[in-house]
Amino acid sequence: MAVQAAGLNPSDVKIRAGGGARSAEAIQFPYVAGREAAGRVVEVGAAVADLEPGDEVFAFFGWAARPGGHAERLVVAASALARRPVGIPVEQAAGLPLAGLTALQGLEALQPRPGDRVLVTSGSGGVGHLGVQLAVALGCEVIATTGPANLAFVRELGAAEVLDYRDPDHRRRLREVPYLLDSVGPQNIASYLPCLSPEASVAAVAGMPSEVPDGITITPIRCEASSERLGRLAALMTESRLSVTVQQVFPLEDAAVAHRVLEGGHVRGKLVLAVGP
Ligand SMILES: NC(=O)c1ccc[n+]([C@@H]2O[C@H](COP(=O)([O-])OP(=O)(O)OC[C@H]3O[C@@H](n4cnc5c(N)ncnc54)[C@H](OP(=O)(O)O)[C@@H]3O)[C@@H](O)[C@H]2O)c1
Repeated sequence: MAVQAAGLNPSDVKIRAGGGARSAEAIQFPYVAGREAAGRVVEVGAAVADLEPGDEVFAFFGWAARPGGHAERLVVAASALARRPVGIPVEQAAGLPLAGLTALQGLEALQPRPGDRVLVTSGSGGVGHLGVQLAVALGCEVIATTGPANLAFVRELGAAEVLDYRDPDHRRRLREVPYLLDSVGPQNIASYLPCLSPEASVAAVAGMPSEVPDGITITPIRCEASSERLGRLAALMTESRLSVTVQQVFPLEDAAVAHRVLEGGHVRGKLVLAVGP
């Protein structure tokens, strides 16, 4: 695959900073970061029947020890890529796979029905801003949390109610919420447990709390490579029911600057690296 643009994710930053890996096998040197990209097929293996050179694709490559997306060329399993959404800028396509698949898996774990209330914490983050839109597309009533600068942004994504997480009283507005998609972390989930219904379901994208009250189900989410799910996300984008907000595009040589911005923890949507033509 010839990479045109590649998404940047907190896992890239955590691994570069010496964390994020669960075992020594999780990283191989020389390490090239980047777990998602959009570009063009250069060559296909003998067993690949439905793709040919020149096809426009995008992919999340899984948790390989040498992911390699922040580079001009890489080898990707056909099972990890899909055709890019039609008519969508390549930078947006590059920012979709990891966060979009994670949000989709989270909602598949929760299985809310149309009309159900779903709380999406960090409605402005990479996972959260897609989670809000995907839950809205399912017909759910979305309540989201974000900081003061992002309240209007998250409302525009379709959330029925947006709460400022920095307001110490905002949890009082939440009662008996049946579903929570969290991409902030274990302490954040713990802080919302009193706001949930006794048999609530929680999808935990950024870690599990140590203690969970009886009756509440918490499912850890780990993004999986999936051509089929990517195809569904691409279709939603093509139908204008899902969009990726790209806060900023950096040239590949400024990847270090992009890492620092992401490390700040306040990106709206995604950061993307522009890689090739
Ligand atoms: N398990 C997996 O497979 C998987 C997949 C993807 C991501 N993740 C993890 O999920 C986490 C989120 O990643 P991401 O890429 O979605 O986003 P991100 O870039 O880490 O999120 C930044 C956003 O979070 C908001 N935010 C920060 N603290 C918040 C709080 N306490 N409550 C509500 N919103 C808050 C910020 O809003 P303000 O600027 O307004 O503060 C900002 O818009 C990371 O830890 C990442 O490693 C895991």
